[in-house]
Amino acid sequence: MKHESLILAPLRGVTMRTFREVWARHFTGLDTAVSPFVPLVAGDRVKPGLLADVDPALPQGIPVVPQVIGRDPQLLRVMIAALQDKGHARVDLNAGCPWPMVVRKGRGAGLMAREDDFRRMLEAGCEALPGGFSVKVRLGVDTPDLLLRRMPVINAAPLCEVVIHARTARQMYEGTVDIARFGEACEACIHPVIYNGDIRTAADLARLRTRFPRVTRWMIGRGVAADPFLPERLRGGSDAGALRDLARFRAYLDDLLEVNRAVLFGEKPVLGRFKELWYYLSQTLTDGPQTLKRIQHSATLDDYRRAVDGWFARAPGWMPERDGIEGSILNQETR
Ligand SMILES: Cc1cc2nc3c(=O)[nH]c(=O)nc-3n(C[C@H](O)[C@H](O)[C@H](O)COP(=O)(O)O)c2cc1C
Repeated sequence: MKHESLILAPLRGVTMRTFREVWARHFTGLDTAVSPFVPLVAGDRVKPGLLADVDPALPQGIPVVPQVIGRDPQLLRVMIAALQDKGHARVDLNAGCPWPMVVRKGRGAGLMAREDDFRRMLEAGCEALPGGFSVKVRLGVDTPDLLLRRMPVINAAPLCEVVIHARTARQMYEGTVDIARFGEACEACIHPVIYNGDIRTAADLARLRTRFPRVTRWMIGRGVAADPFLPERLRGGSDAGALRDLARFRAYLDDLLEVNRAVLFGEKPVLGRFKELWYYLSQTLTDGPQTLKRIQHSATLDDYRRAVDGWFARAPGWMPERDGIEGSILNQETR
């Protein structure tokens, strides 16, 4: 079978370094990760603190590609030099962040809307990091035809890969992924393409493989946050549900708590991380919504621990799997 890459998507506030470190101690199946975005900053040097999340001197668990967000080519060059200094040979540019504040400023998905800025950023990145620069895009900002219109700019830059989240920015993270538009963009792109969006089960991936036989790189975010066993099931086939094991899950949660307590100052930020993580976990666990509510109401780490202990003491387990992508969507014809 051809080699496939499974890549952890950047989820700001969730897939931070500590998550990647701890996940990799307990689970397998992911080849690389793209970091949550690091903003480009004014000036001719980058404060080391800004790069702590992608510091190769700290345990990363999975090889990590730093992602940056911004629209100024000179600041991109400064940032790439700082990342190269740290030993990074790969950098990804965020051209997909959908938040209106970001988009209005021409960053994230807003960069796709400004053709000249987009071209200059891709040129600067490829020049500064030959063979090591990639971009993560959406299908468009308001409508899903923009990416196809930007393909000449994307193809003209010697990018090493292009990640396509098959939604518009207006959709944020909801609504169906547009498989037909992804297919069109993928056909038109001369670079290796990574599919991204709503892979939640082995059945999702199996159908995507059939639909896009030339795609061999798959990026998954919320699916892994919601179920850390997912990459193992994606590797192992569709009926490997039995691989889920409560003792491993417990060890993962406990380890994550300890590592976060060691690197964050005070209980509040640690609690914040777990409230965010459980938002996703609760989507796959039995009794998920009720447990999430208890965790969201936790004021201290002791409250949090009691809520988690309560879940393990009741009837812990996982709900029947729900595909992220309906089969009918995958059958959409390419226009
Ligand atoms: C909370 C959250 C934070 C995100 N942060 C980033 C980010 O920093 N950079 C980025 O390119 N995408 C970011 N994304 C988008 C994801 O990387 C991914 O494209 C999206 O969630 C769809 O993939 P999934 O369905 O596998 O999660 C974020 C998404 C969420 C929900």
